Amino acid sequence: MKPASQMSWEAFHALDPDMQSGLLQKDGHIFHVLYARQFERDRLEAMGLLATRIRKIAKTVDGMHFLRDQLFHKRAMLYFTQPSTRTFLSFYSACQILGMAVGEVRDKSMSSEFKGETPEDAVRSFSSYFDMIIMRSAIGGLAERMAWVFMNSDRPVPVINAGSGKDQHPTQALLDIYTLQRSFEDRGGIDGKTILFCGDLARGRTVRSLANLLTNYDDMRLIFSAPAALTIGNDILASLTKRNVPYEVSADFERFIPEADAIYMTRIQDEWDSVKGESQTVDTSIYAFEKRHLAVLKPDAVIMHPLPRRNEIDHAVDADPRAVYWRQMRNGMWIRAALIATIFNCAERINDYLP
Ligand code: NCD
Repeated sequence: MKPASQMSWEAFHALDPDMQSGLLQKDGHIFHVLYARQFERDRLEAMGLLATRIRKIAKTVDGMHFLRDQLFHKRAMLYFTQPSTRTFLSFYSACQILGMAVGEVRDKSMSSEFKGETPEDAVRSFSSYFDMIIMRSAIGGLAERMAWVFMNSDRPVPVINAGSGKDQHPTQALLDIYTLQRSFEDRGGIDGKTILFCGDLARGRTVRSLANLLTNYDDMRLIFSAPAALTIGNDILASLTKRNVPYEVSADFERFIPEADAIYMTRIQDEWDSVKGESQTVDTSIYAFEKRHLAVLKPDAVIMHPLPRRNEIDHAVDADPRAVYWRQMRNGMWIRAALIATIFNCAERINDYLP
C-alpha cells in the first residue's frame, strides 16, 4: 500500500479504519490521534500506567521539574473553535505538566478564517510556529483532513483530535477508559463488566468513542438506553457485532440500573438540532439519574459523565462515593499528559524515573 503522503485525500479518507490507523503512526509509535479505535488494549494499559506514574511524579517539586524538562523544547497549539473550557484547560494543563509552551486560537472571527481563509490553510499556517496541533472543531472529519494535509507537507506535526463534530472524541474515551481501569482495579479490571449508556446517544461523540474502545475487553455487555429519536447509531452497533460484543438497545433506563457496573450519563446535545428546539419535543425526563436510584445501584458500581451536566444527574448524587465524574475529569489531564509524552517518545524516560 502507498504511504499516506502519496495518497489522495479521497483514497485516504475511504481507507478501512484499521489500515488508516497504521498510517497514523511514526517509527512504530502513535503520532496522529484521530479516532478512539486507533487504541488497542496493550496501548490502553500502557497509557493508564504512564498516567498514574505522571500523577505520582507530579506530587513532588523534583518530580515536577523532571516532568517539565521532558518537553520544554516543544510547543503546542490549541485550536479550539468549538465551545470548550474543560477539555481546553485539561490539554493546557497536560502540556504545562510536561513543560510545553502553549498557544491558542479560540475564535475564528479573530483569525483570517474571517477573511475567507479555509480552516485547512489556517491550521497549516499556525502550525508553522508549533510542534503539535490539538484541535476541536464542529466540522466532522477536520482533524482527519489536517492529519492528511500534514502527512503531505514537509513539516509533519502530530494532530490530536480533541472532539470533532458529532462523531469522535478519542481523548475523552481514553480518560473514560482510565477511569474504568482505576475504578475496577480491585475487581478484575474492565473485562466482564456491564456498561449502561444513557442520554443523547445519537449525537454524543463521547459515547461513540468509548463504545469503540470497550470492544478491546472481554465478556463485556453494553446497554444503550435512550429515547427512540436519540438512539445509538447503527454504525456503532455494527462495529460491536463485528467484534462480538453483546449489546442491548432499550428505551428503558431504570430497569437496567441494578445490573450496571458503570453508568455513563450524557446530556442532550441540542446544539445539533436541525430545527431549533427540536430536542424539546422529545420526552427525555426519564433519562436522568435520581437520588432514589442510588438505592438500587450495585454497591461497587460507578456513575460517570463526560460533563457538562444539565439535569441528567441530580446534584444530590454528587456526595455518593460511586459518583466519579469529578475524578474522571481530573483523570483527563493525566491521561492527556501520558498521551502527549507517548507521541513525543518520552514515555520510557518517565516510566524509569520512579524505582
Ligand atoms: C463532551 C463533548 O464535547 O463532546 N464534553 C467534553 O469534552 N467533556 C460532552 C458534551 O459536550 O456533552
